[in-house]
Amino acid sequence: MSKKAIIYTSYHHNNTVNLLKDAVNELEYDWYNLLRDKDVKIPINDYETIIFASGIYYSRMHKIMVRFLLENKDELEEKKVLAVITAGKNPSGYAKRVKTHFRNLGILNIHVFSCLAFDTYGPLKLIGGVNKGRPNKGDVSKLTSFLEEHI
Ligand SMILES: Cc1cc2nc3c(=O)[nH]c(=O)nc-3n(C[C@H](O)[C@H](O)[C@H](O)COP(=O)(O)O)c2cc1C
Repeated sequence: MSKKAIIYTSYHHNNTVNLLKDAVNELEYDWYNLLRDKDVKIPINDYETIIFASGIYYSRMHKIMVRFLLENKDELEEKKVLAVITAGKNPSGYAKRVKTHFRNLGILNIHVFSCLAFDTYGPLKLIGGVNKGRPNKGDVSKLTSFLEEHI
């Protein structure tokens, strides 16, 4: 079977990684947490399919993810590459930006899934956050369908 990896940055509420864990069979993927496994050399060439997953922080994917993509873009051109992002607002707007980001790196065959998610950043904490309960079961089944379509 072709090998698949999920490379992720997710720390605010683990919204992004938990969404993926609920949507896939965990055992079918090798998981890499870029925020934790800083010194791990990811054998990108071993994988046919890679899902990059990140929360949106200050309007972009995590800067460690951005750096990883820049450093590894040449190896990604020929692969099946997908992105999954979660955000506190306007997920489809961020999906467009993320798609452009990948395309500007030369990763043209990119599909992006975006989802609204719980957010307590900054002043939002004072009101108990927004989008409580998201991602929810509906989001999980949309992601499952998205992955079935594109992998
Ligand atoms: C430091 C920080 C900055 C954020 N900036 C944005 C932003 O610019 N736009 C937005 O929609 N959400 C923003 N959020 C909310 C996150 O995108 C949202 O909670 C996301 O689901 C976090 O993913 P995670 O739990 O996987 O880390 C921000 C959250 C944090 C902690």
